[in-house]
Parts: sequence; C-alpha cells; structure tokens
Amino acid sequence: ALAIWHQLTKYEIPELSKSSVLMRDRKRVEEIIQSMHRAGPSALQVISDFDMTLTRFAHNGKRCPTSHNILDNSKLISEDCKKSLKELLNTYYPIEIDSSRTVEEKLPHMVEWWTKAHNLLIQQKIRKDLLAQVVKESDAMLREGYKEFFDQLQEHNVPLLIFSAGVGDVLEEVIRQNDIFHSNVRVFSNYMDFDENGILRAFKGQLIHTYNKREGALLNAGHFQELQDRHNVLLLGDSIGDLTMADGVQNVENVLKIGYLNDKVEERKESYLASYDIVLEKDETMDVPNALVRLIT
Ligand code: TMP
Ligand code: MG
Repeated sequence: ALAIWHQLTKYEIPELSKSSVLMRDRKRVEEIIQSMHRAGPSALQVISDFDMTLTRFAHNGKRCPTSHNILDNSKLISEDCKKSLKELLNTYYPIEIDSSRTVEEKLPHMVEWWTKAHNLLIQQKIRKDLLAQVVKESDAMLREGYKEFFDQLQEHNVPLLIFSAGVGDVLEEVIRQNDIFHSNVRVFSNYMDFDENGILRAFKGQLIHTYNKREGALLNAGHFQELQDRHNVLLLGDSIGDLTMADGVQNVENVLKIGYLNDKVEERKESYLASYDIVLEKDETMDVPNALVRLIT
C-alpha cells in the first residue's frame, strides 16, 4: 500500500517536485498528507499568516507592500512621518529576520517597532473612509493562485483563519477587493479604533507582533473551541514567529507547516528546514498549498 501511495504522491502532487520546494523529511510529509487525506475536509482547518505569506514578497523584481506598508506609502501619511516609518523599518526589520538572534532577544525590539509605528499612524489622524481607496491605489498583491486557494476552502467548508501582525482593517480591504472574503474566513489582527468622526485614535486589544502569535492564539481559545473537531491543521507562514499560530488548537492530530522563505535565503534556510515541514524558497505562488488542499478535500 505504501508503494502505491508513493506512486500516487508522485502522480498527484507534482508541485512537490518543484525546485523551490525543500523538505527536511519528505517521507514524514507524505505520511502527514496521507493521514489528512484519509480524514478529509471535515477534519481540516487552515491557519495562515497574511503579509508575505498570502501576499507576494516581490513582483517583477520589486518588493510588494505589507499591510503596514500600504498605509506608509499612501497619501494619508505626511512626508515627515513617511521618513520616520522608513527609519523604523530600516532599524527593526533586519532584527526581525536576523537568524543569529533568538526570539527572546528579538521580542522587546518587535514591541518597540509596533508601538512606535502605531503611534506614528495615530498622529496622522487617518480617516476610515479613505482606507478602501488607499488599498485600491496600492501595489498590494496576493500570491499567484490565491483565488483557487480561497475558493477551494470555501467550497469545502474548510475554515481559514488569517492570523496577522499587520493591520486588520487594511488586510480585510485587500481580501474584500479581491472578492475572496468568503464566509469561512476569520481574521485575528491589529484593528484600528476610530472616534465618532471616523478618525484613527488607537489600536484595539492586545498588540500582535511577529513573535507573540502564541499568546494571541491562546487569547482566542473560543475560536478554536468552535473548531475542535478539526484535528488537522495546514499552517502557512513566512516567519519563524508564525510557527506558533496553531498553539491554540485543541486535540491536534496533524499540523503540516508550510513556510515561505522569501528573504535572506541562504542564511535562514537551515533554520526554516528545521522548523517547517515544507519550505518554499523564493516561490511567489500558492501552487503547493493549492495542490495539498486539492488532494485533502
Ligand atoms: P505578519 O505577521 O502578518 O506577516 O505581519 C507582520 C509584518 O509587517 C512583519 O513582517 C513586519 C511588517 N511591518 C511593516 O512592514 N511595517 C511596520 O511598521 C510594522 C510594525 C511591521
Ligand atoms: Mg508574514
């Protein structure tokens, strides 16, 4: 039976043979997929990061914006403020992706980055009614194959949790404008709090940054309680911090972790291979997630 399965996977998942696909333990990956396939769509849930996971890292050699960058680059922000936000990015992004520092070392820097960036945004008195237009005018781009991904999950009633340290209002607008904000989609993120005139005055709730998603997951126990019959998790991320997004899931049977390795590829390959089951190196498509969802559902 195993021999047949091997033939089947080769036959049915040619995407896993793409040169961008790296695996520490291919056999283990195949076993997990096989088990998820047997359990079917009713046992599946998908948890995905947003920025640089569902959206592209680059297109035609040019970097694509994160949900924060969509605001930062927009007409809602003054030139002075753009400069300050850029300085923050230049200071803290290298720390975020530095493979020589531990997550513990990075934590205080991430809190500092998000806090400073949010305070700058608040000072700009951003208007809620202009967000849709700003997203429309931005270079935001979902990965190739995004529509099949969202549509397949909707069609098979598989819940999709988008778990993002970006800006919830902005990312919701991105998925709305791409016509994929289906009823099976839930979002955990940093949401803006507007005053009675529709002007940004704060961010709501507990701050989510790249490396505290575990706490975020545990705070939202109720969501995972509702999905407690879904023992199989497909997890998609691009940061080492995304690995903890499924920590709130109850009675987990299998978690298949797919990691997009977008930047500093050579430096980070080893650590990504050690912690993600499937690593997608400089792959701007949803080909592999789509193939897996197609097989499981
Ligand atoms: P994610 O966890 O949903 O991918 O979102 C976090 C990304 O947002 C992370 O890679 C850093 C990025 N970011 C900005 O681009 N600008 C900012 O001001 C902040 C605070 C984060
Ligand atoms: Mg990300």
